[in-house]
Amino acid sequence: MEIKTFKDHESLSAAVAAEILATLKNKPGAVICLASGETPRRTCQLLVELARRDKTDISQFTFIGLDEWVGIPPENAGSCHYFFQHELLDPLKIPNQQVHLFDGMSEDLREECTKMDAVIGEKGGIDLIVVGIGMNGHIGFNEPGVSFDNYSHVIDLDETTITVGQKYFTTPVSLQKGITLGLKHLLNAKKAILIANGTKKAGVIRDTVEQKVNNNFPATVMQQHASGFVMIDEGAASLLNQSK
Ligand code: PGA
Repeated sequence: MEIKTFKDHESLSAAVAAEILATLKNKPGAVICLASGETPRRTCQLLVELARRDKTDISQFTFIGLDEWVGIPPENAGSCHYFFQHELLDPLKIPNQQVHLFDGMSEDLREECTKMDAVIGEKGGIDLIVVGIGMNGHIGFNEPGVSFDNYSHVIDLDETTITVGQKYFTTPVSLQKGITLGLKHLLNAKKAILIANGTKKAGVIRDTVEQKVNNNFPATVMQQHASGFVMIDEGAASLLNQSK
């Protein structure tokens, strides 16, 4: 695992967008998984700009959405589906057949997991996965205590996730479960990037890189990835040993 520090959220986002674009240029049929959330929003916006400007071939890649709130419909602006649609898929006019998002409204969530795992398997695995980090060290909805051996699964959300998650919604919502790719997907991905910005993430970034690998702090899984990158701004890096 390697740590890369950038001056601010803007330069971090530009570097991550460039990395995604480079993956697409090297392998137009790449499988790319992105997280939704405040951290990757600017990355998505810059990726749209860059892909348009460079006329990148985006007709062959497969897009995988990292996770979804169970019981939140896609038209709710707080859903992960809404984020992907509005920040990336609609602006780039990515056809539905290239896109695989969990349906958090499905009657059969287990089937949603089976379908997602099958798609990733059929496509030969994930080439690049870009994830954020929660205030409890979660990645996607891989909450504290989760197994590193999980593929897609449904999980009871941690109290921190339920509380912090309200920030995505205009009115209070009941958040109980999430559906998510597992950490085995991240470990199997050819390249994994964890992104974080701002001093509010400094503590969880310190724990990610300085704690021993343990499933009570799921983001420590990044240490096990041979091609894992923690890409952060100076705020998020401010509690790291080497930056002192
Ligand atoms: P954020 O979410 O990018 O909105 O901070 C991170 C996460 O919970 O994974």
